[in-house]
Amino acid sequence: MPSPRSTPTVTVNRARLEARIEELGRIGVHPEGGLDRGVYDDSWTEAMELVAGWLSGAGLKVRRDAVGNLFGRLEGYASDRVIMTGSHIDTVPQGGAYDGGLGVQAAVEAVVSIAEQLGPQPTALEVFVCAEEEGSRWPCDFWGARALVGSIGADEPHELLALDGSEITIADGMRRHGLDPELIPTAARDDIDVFVELHIEQGRVLEDAGQQIGIVHTINGKVHLEAVIEGRSDHAGGTPMGLRHDALAAGADIALRVEALAKRLGDPAVATVGSLVPRPGAINVIAHRCELTIDARHPDPVQLTALQDGIHSLLAEVAQDRSVEVSVVREARHEPQPMDAQVTSVLTEAAAARNGRPPLLMVSGAGHDSQIISQHVPTGMIFVPSVDGLSHTPHEYTRIEDSVAGVEVLVDALLSLARGRQ
Ligand code: GLV
Ligand code: MN
Ligand code: MN
Repeated sequence: MPSPRSTPTVTVNRARLEARIEELGRIGVHPEGGLDRGVYDDSWTEAMELVAGWLSGAGLKVRRDAVGNLFGRLEGYASDRVIMTGSHIDTVPQGGAYDGGLGVQAAVEAVVSIAEQLGPQPTALEVFVCAEEEGSRWPCDFWGARALVGSIGADEPHELLALDGSEITIADGMRRHGLDPELIPTAARDDIDVFVELHIEQGRVLEDAGQQIGIVHTINGKVHLEAVIEGRSDHAGGTPMGLRHDALAAGADIALRVEALAKRLGDPAVATVGSLVPRPGAINVIAHRCELTIDARHPDPVQLTALQDGIHSLLAEVAQDRSVEVSVVREARHEPQPMDAQVTSVLTEAAAARNGRPPLLMVSGAGHDSQIISQHVPTGMIFVPSVDGLSHTPHEYTRIEDSVAGVEVLVDALLSLARGRQ
């Protein structure tokens, strides 16, 4: 592939980028802070329409697929093959404006700037606004990216139930939005040559290293597990401590043992009980049931298995120690995913050429659309710093100068990739 130095310079429009980050960041505001943009809800629809307007306003060809992924295309003059860039538009509950959002903004700004200043490139350039990544409304695990690579199972849309307990399937959610779940297979693409995702780091490695740009070589492996504890409801006043089958106390015990397990394995192992829901959840009733989630991650598959096995052991131990039943009702594992070596080297060269210093090559702690797409298409990731490492919180923030630097690297890499493939 040619060096990015041989590509012409495109200027990123800082004022436009800044204004659009603010504009998109006003959609889905939660009354208690942060953004709630769950796939197929009203704020998601509004956000998608806003971005579609930016894309069509710039003269790009706009299209939506069967799950609602949005694309903006600058046709190539020599080939129909595609260099694609983008990220997700949905958020976690009360999330920030940058997780996914900045990758969407970067993709729009990069492709629109190239269209405005240089026009078509040898291959097509496409902005990908991914419908869903976070699993916030349904536990659907990278819905948008999995539709793109054709890995959504035929029964899944009818089996995935909303996390709010409403029994609404994701197929229902799609239909309410005018999308036909039977058409999901039509979203699969086989014309993409390369995918590049810009994302905020969601940790503090770049900040601590004083680096503006990171290039990801591996995305952490991840295990997601949902468990249900069945105990027995009793009177909080009348039941001596030794006679209880307290499902909530068992859940709390699991949370502490999960934390201790990850600490024992040491960095970079991480494990989190992010949700612990007691039933009936009353001040004077011992909980008879508790639902909990566990998220465990490691970049090394062997260590990820050690974490996973350790979690299963501790669930059994708590069940025995506390005379409750613990069952795992859902378990999903995503292997650690290496990025493509050639794409990574194009990104690294682009970053070094723009900034005059090599970027940091690093592991991504968080999961991304790229870990799904990279299983089918050569993929690379650009990271920009998160202030204080904060993410999945309303306080998530990335400085505009760092965002601009990231988009500049993205622009140069897209040009280099498009020109290297004519
Ligand atoms: C995505 O945000 C993840 O959970 O890593
Ligand atoms: Mn996220
Ligand atoms: Mn994200």
